[in-house]
Amino acid sequence: RGKKAFIAGVADDQGFGWAIAKCLAEAGCEISLGVWVPALNIFESSLRRGKFDANRKLSNGKLMEFSKIYPMDAVFDTLADVPKDILSNKRYAGNSKWTVAEVAESVKADSGNIDILVHSLANGPEVIKPLLETSRKGYLAALSASSYSLISLVQRFGPLMNKGGSVISLTYNASNRIIPGYGGGMSSAKAALESDTRVLAYEAGRKYGVRVNTISAGPLGSRAAKAIGFIDDMIRYSEENSPIQKGLSAEEVGAVATFLLSPLASGVTGHVMFVDNGLNAMGLAT
Ligand code: NAI
Repeated sequence: RGKKAFIAGVADDQGFGWAIAKCLAEAGCEISLGVWVPALNIFESSLRRGKFDANRKLSNGKLMEFSKIYPMDAVFDTLADVPKDILSNKRYAGNSKWTVAEVAESVKADSGNIDILVHSLANGPEVIKPLLETSRKGYLAALSASSYSLISLVQRFGPLMNKGGSVISLTYNASNRIIPGYGGGMSSAKAALESDTRVLAYEAGRKYGVRVNTISAGPLGSRAAKAIGFIDDMIRYSEENSPIQKGLSAEEVGAVATFLLSPLASGVTGHVMFVDNGLNAMGLAT
């Protein structure tokens, strides 16, 4: 039987989430998506209009299908947490059951248990501000959307994961090294995400028998990355200075994600795996 995967954080065909979905689909998984509520309309209409078809082609000639697409906002855990102005916001008002707990309930009702959970989302409203100029609100918003969202997902989806299941997220080495420009508390958010990966690996491992890992990826010109502003410089820097002097494709991250999510990695949990052409290992720019 094909494994069931839920992927949170896909809103176009350019990011890591899509590439992971495609690699899992190639491996025979059944895939459902959690799409950020404000991005859902455009994602679904683009999908319907065939805008992603070129990137949906699988090696067997078929197009990748999603068994379900759920609206989701990983900043809210239950309906009781949602402020009135969001509920009445026109981009949210047309959708329902998009808090993390409600999405988990819907997934359970629609597909029963799942095997694979992917967290491929982040948001830092003040990402372009240096940490020294970041507001408390901006910092906490970065942590809420980019770090606590993983805890929330594992809390709510853990009970519906089959034993032997596996969770991954995406992180960035700004957690360990100074990356000027990756601001707004996003560096802090990634440090929290990596630490939480270890603690969740222990707790969810003991409680549900699932593994929790994270991939520390090199720079990719995704929609989220373009919002940071200096992604093209990061890509150039990485190509020039990595041990392997080439660009990094989202598919290379998709392949490692698929490995970590598969039984081939049954002995790996609590791990931060670099997929960055080795840039993290350099001590000096060359
Ligand atoms: P992306 O734009 O494809 O993915 C980010 C997704 O997060 C989007 O689909 C967005 O709609 C969603 N999102 C934002 N706030 C949300 C919320 N509150 N609830 C639900 N969804 C929400 O961009 P990318 O780059 O593929 O990002 C995926 C992950 O990869 C992120 O964790 C990012 O930090 C990480 N990453 C990205 C790198 C890069 O250079 N692009 C490098 C290393 C890590």
